[in-house]
Amino acid sequence: MPITHCIFDAYGTLFDVAGAARAAAATPQGAALSQHWAQLAAHWRAKQLEYTWLRAITGDHADFQQVTQDGLDWSLEAMGLDGDPALRAQLLDLYRTLPAYPEVPAMLQALNAAGYTCAILSNGTPQMLSDAVTSAGIDGQLDALLSIEDVGIYKPARAVYDMVRTRYDTNPDEVLFVSSNGWDAAGASGYGFNVLWVNRAGQPVDRMPHKPTRTERDLTNLPHFIKEF
Ligand code: LAC
Repeated sequence: MPITHCIFDAYGTLFDVAGAARAAAATPQGAALSQHWAQLAAHWRAKQLEYTWLRAITGDHADFQQVTQDGLDWSLEAMGLDGDPALRAQLLDLYRTLPAYPEVPAMLQALNAAGYTCAILSNGTPQMLSDAVTSAGIDGQLDALLSIEDVGIYKPARAVYDMVRTRYDTNPDEVLFVSSNGWDAAGASGYGFNVLWVNRAGQPVDRMPHKPTRTERDLTNLPHFIKEF
């Protein structure tokens, strides 16, 4: 069936998760990060995701704001930067308003103009997602911000991908799911969605049972090739 809905992962796909550490490093308050912001961003992202998977397995759900803080605290301590509460507060504040990747606004505009329904399906809390899309100026291009808080478990649980059917009454084959996270792309593909993996970091494909339908380096050309799914 033709694609009618484009459902986007948020963090790493539409928003640059390294943006908070990069922006902090450019301020006097964040000078300690000037040489290390990329390492902090990588630790932070890895721990944040690890905690989502662990909490999904054990059933100890806490929202994405909490696991984002926990991942940051682990990372700051690992790098010997845990004695600076102002830096921690600055990083968390910047995480609320992460920059969108440069191609995102025009890409969403083109998809909307072509009649596709665009929405986010993310681990983020409703407040985090609302803050991020508002600060990036893309709130008007998104029909819904679907947060896993509605089902209380993190991706790649099937209950999360099911939220699209619940919201839109679609079949999985009418949906294009777009994620830069290889494990999310694999989970969504196993669920039955058409999947575009945005391999921004040039990583190998994840060795999971299900592969993405298509791989691209960024989202620039999505409005041109979406009809090919
Ligand atoms: C999200 C995480 C996985 O936005 O990036 O759901």
